[in-house]
Amino acid sequence: MEIFEANEVTDELVEAFQYLMPQLSSSSPAPTREELQLIVDSPAVILLMARYEGKLVGSLSLAVFRVPTGVLAWIEDVVVDQSMRGKGIGEALTRAALTRAKELGVKQVDLTSRPVREAANRLYQRVGFLPRQTNVYRYKIEKE
Ligand SMILES: CC(C)(COP(=O)(O)OP(=O)(O)OC[C@H]1O[C@@H](n2cnc3c(N)ncnc32)[C@H](O)[C@@H]1OP(=O)(O)O)[C@@H](O)C(=O)NCCC(=O)NCCS
Repeated sequence: MEIFEANEVTDELVEAFQYLMPQLSSSSPAPTREELQLIVDSPAVILLMARYEGKLVGSLSLAVFRVPTGVLAWIEDVVVDQSMRGKGIGEALTRAALTRAKELGVKQVDLTSRPVREAANRLYQRVGFLPRQTNVYRYKIEKE
């Protein structure tokens, strides 16, 4: 298994998101090639991919940003292809993200995961994430 940072948009990358995204979210379409280019070009986002037996089978996005309290990070959009789950790929992606965060001087890494995502919640706690008591809010911007 190989975990790497995607720095260019290839056909393989575009195709991978076409089969990975429906396994992550039923409401978000796969990113287009142009959207992937924006992600790859962004200085604030590290797009980690997992390759297993030659195929792209997983992804994790790490957002890193400086605010007055320091350099913070969020993990988002963690997904492993259904047929490849239970092989430690999700854990390897998460650990690679934590290593990158540490290299970048990040003070803390946050994420959220709905309780229904049982495998994900076990995974995050296994690698050392601790539940945090806070209120999580979301403001939805309605399209005009
Ligand atoms: C969460 C997710 C990324 C984990 O990926 P993964 O590569 O299977 O992760 P790991 O192999 O490191 O660990 C997965 C757990 O599932 C177990 N497992 C074993 N076989 C499995 C299988 N066939 N399918 C699913 N899980 C399996 C593993 O043993 C491990 O169990 P444990 O937590 O009881 O120890 C993956 O399940 C996924 O993509 N889920 C859908 C999207 C999602 O929920 N993303 C998280 C958003 S917060």
